Amino acid sequence: GLVVGSTVVSAGVLHRHGDGTAPPLKVAEHLPKGQAVTFNYPGEHDRAMAIRLTDGSVVGYSTVCTHLACGVLWRKERGAEGELYCPCHEGVFSARTGEVTAGPPPRPLPRVVMVEDDQGAVWAIGTARSGESERAGLCRGLEES
Ligand code: FES
Repeated sequence: GLVVGSTVVSAGVLHRHGDGTAPPLKVAEHLPKGQAVTFNYPGEHDRAMAIRLTDGSVVGYSTVCTHLACGVLWRKERGAEGELYCPCHEGVFSARTGEVTAGPPPRPLPRVVMVEDDQGAVWAIGTARSGESERAGLCRGLEES
């Protein structure tokens, strides 16, 4: 299963639970380092993206710009980790944290909580306010189970 702290989570458990803010969704069977995948989460029109950073960690964000809701793109070649870029007014967000690093967006990109199961598949398991711990979200979901 997925190891979160000392808790092992199977894909089946993920499928039923997650963090309680939105249903779990498998977004990729495999996501190599330096690659991104887009998906709709939690609703059909809520665009999101998961990125595996070069250190192997997986991050997820809404790709609806917090300025005027244009679609945010991943610029892989910028800096060590790439960046999330909004072409409408040149808003820029950190790929690691979603924080605004340039331009007019007033808030960070909302996070999508991502986990990887023991098969290497990547799941979206809920949403989180920026700065909220992903582990806290998962643990809360498990406690509710
Ligand atoms: Fe994204 Fe303005 S809509 S920077």
